[in-house]
Amino acid sequence: MIVKASTNPLVKVDALTVQFTTHARGRRTTIEPVSKVSFEIAEGEVLALVGESGSGKTTIGRTLVKIVEATSGQIYFAGRNITRIRSQAVRSLHAEVQMIFQDPFAALNPTATIQEHLALPAHVYQHISRSAMDQKVRELLDEVGLSPADEFRGKYPHELSGGQRQRVVIARALAANPRFIVADEPVSMLDVSIRADILRILRDLKERLSISLLYITHDLASARYLSDRIMVLYGGKIMEVGTARDIVKNPRHPYTQLLLAAVPGRTEALPQVAEAAPDLSVGSQGCPFAPRCPYTMDACRTQPIPIISVESQHEVACLFSEMADAVTPSSSP
Ligand SMILES: Nc1ncnc2c1ncn2[C@@H]1O[C@H](COP(=O)(O)OP(=O)(O)OP(=O)(O)O)[C@@H](O)[C@H]1O
Ligand SMILES: [Mg+2]
Repeated sequence: MIVKASTNPLVKVDALTVQFTTHARGRRTTIEPVSKVSFEIAEGEVLALVGESGSGKTTIGRTLVKIVEATSGQIYFAGRNITRIRSQAVRSLHAEVQMIFQDPFAALNPTATIQEHLALPAHVYQHISRSAMDQKVRELLDEVGLSPADEFRGKYPHELSGGQRQRVVIARALAANPRFIVADEPVSMLDVSIRADILRILRDLKERLSISLLYITHDLASARYLSDRIMVLYGGKIMEVGTARDIVKNPRHPYTQLLLAAVPGRTEALPQVAEAAPDLSVGSQGCPFAPRCPYTMDACRTQPIPIISVESQHEVACLFSEMADAVTPSSSP
């Protein structure tokens, strides 16, 4: 599936596959948590990557920032193939590509002040001089709504609330002056009351600074709020991708429909099916959702699933959806 960003792609991922080999009790097992995933992210676009635990979201995010090595496939950033770059080239890439992690407390150094957290990347990636640094740190703190900035510069992470710490983590990512940020569940560990503030800051980054984001989340409601397009992942494969509006208003994949049924206020629920973990073994055929899907046909388990385009910018990997379209060709508005 190649899901094209509407304008020039900043990030292009082509058939990305990641395998992990583990050794437990003398047995060697290889799993494929990311399987031939292709997508693009445009300059200034937010793409949400949505799926339940273990679907491969973090692995994709980590591969893009070069923490995890791709087993096969290609990753391009700003037209450059970065799939196999190493050491110095990865350090240079981190001036342009940053990652925000789920747990802001673990991401910060308890013995460093907020000023020190921001000064290091500003110096390394933007070559900000010592004399200009205080001003730069003030600007970064203002950018994420920590004001008055001078009140925060000398503090340590434990002196801040969870929401304030996540703001510092975002400011630290911005200190590199990146063009692309992978935000891996940036609000899931925060108090519900402050999640909206952090999401608003991220939306601002896209709108004011034109930074592209890969927003990783379990939660379709926040994906709808923050993103331009949503990509739904299950068992390491793309199930469906489309504009945020289409995915929420007109979900075509049974798995997306199941996810939406879990959102409060939505009533359309799929029939209950006993849960079964997706098959992540190497070379597994068919749709990973087939064991849980109420519409499964034999072919769903045995053959590669074709990608069908249901609208411009809306694609779904589902045999049932394809059949439904063939029977009622006017079903999509
Ligand atoms: N370094 C690793 N070695 C072995 N297996 C791994 C490694 N990292 C991830 N996995 C496995 O890959 C699969 C996908 O994990 P991943 O963390 O990408 O999922 P996720 O969608 O981010 O889940 P969550 O929502 O829980 O964060 C899981 O089965 C996980 O156990
Ligand atoms: Mg994860």
